[in-house]
Amino acid sequence: MSSKTAQELALPVGVTLDRFIMLSQSAFPYATGELSQLLRDIALAGKIINREINRAGLVDIAGGNGTENVQGENQQKLDIVANIRFIRALKNGGEVCAILSEEDEDIIHTGNDQGKYVVAMDPLDGSSNIDVNVSIGTIFSIYRRVTPTGTAATMEDFLQGGRKQIAAGYILYGSSTMLVFSTGEDVNGFTLDQSLGEFILSHKNICSPKSGNIFSVNEGNYYSYLESVQKYLDNCKRKGFSARYIGSLVGDFHRNLLKGGIYLYPSTKKDPKGKLRLLYECYPLAFLAEKSGGKASDGFGAILDIIPTSGHQRSPIFVGSAAMVEEAVKP
Ligand code: AHG
Ligand code: MN
Ligand code: MN
Repeated sequence: MSSKTAQELALPVGVTLDRFIMLSQSAFPYATGELSQLLRDIALAGKIINREINRAGLVDIAGGNGTENVQGENQQKLDIVANIRFIRALKNGGEVCAILSEEDEDIIHTGNDQGKYVVAMDPLDGSSNIDVNVSIGTIFSIYRRVTPTGTAATMEDFLQGGRKQIAAGYILYGSSTMLVFSTGEDVNGFTLDQSLGEFILSHKNICSPKSGNIFSVNEGNYYSYLESVQKYLDNCKRKGFSARYIGSLVGDFHRNLLKGGIYLYPSTKKDPKGKLRLLYECYPLAFLAEKSGGKASDGFGAILDIIPTSGHQRSPIFVGSAAMVEEAVKP
């Protein structure tokens, strides 16, 4: 048996999220340290939700709650728990003055009117997968407020448009738990070391492959798509691409980001404006896609260029490897 060197026996743990934030803070927009604290708050809430998810089968926390959210969709107990955990973490942190959540009709004022930031979030994405141990996620989008500090934030702070995001990311609760985010430069991924309770930099400067051979779409809706979308899907099959669809946007997006592929949720007869929510699903993932070299379109133009009109509006989305998105939305 070959013996290992002392170094090999005790490999470094790697760069923790805290250390990464400290080292890169000067490159953050408005490098005041407040955005750093906000990212730490999000990471903490992510760790807490990760703990809840891992216990879901053991305590009475899985399954439906018998209530509906603002979109008229059935709420799962974990949807509600994740929402509360995030709101609490962001309130305690003090950097955020208001939150827009998928689960609440109106914006939530944190009580910290001095806070310079607002956060739009989908606290738990892929909720139909909670009960069956399939990957789920959290998506977040951060803006610097435009209303004066010291006053109550308004919808105007959230309706700035995708290009005004100063940071965005997601937490994926999968076979391992990952935090992936960008503050406007590169996109970096951190994996939660469960025993240390620390996010460790595991995917530095993620670059979206230019093209790929994975397409992720709910094909059950095929006959409800526009002919152009049907043709694109037919083409994917002709080329022998792999169909991969979990039904958790974060999981599907993450796989395609690493391996090369496209995720699409086009308009359907049931949802002519698409199903996914612009502010806390489409914008943040479009931001990450562009920052990593990929693309995101609503079928007509860049998702990030859509002018928002309301907090919970929906949009069709084609997101992932640049060449695949271009091909899918070609007129
Ligand atoms: P949410 O659980 O936050 O409501 O989002 C579910 C979304 C997204 O995660 C997923 O890709 C898509 O809905 C799945 O929709 P279909 O079941 O219509 O394919
Ligand atoms: Mn969602
Ligand atoms: Mn959700």
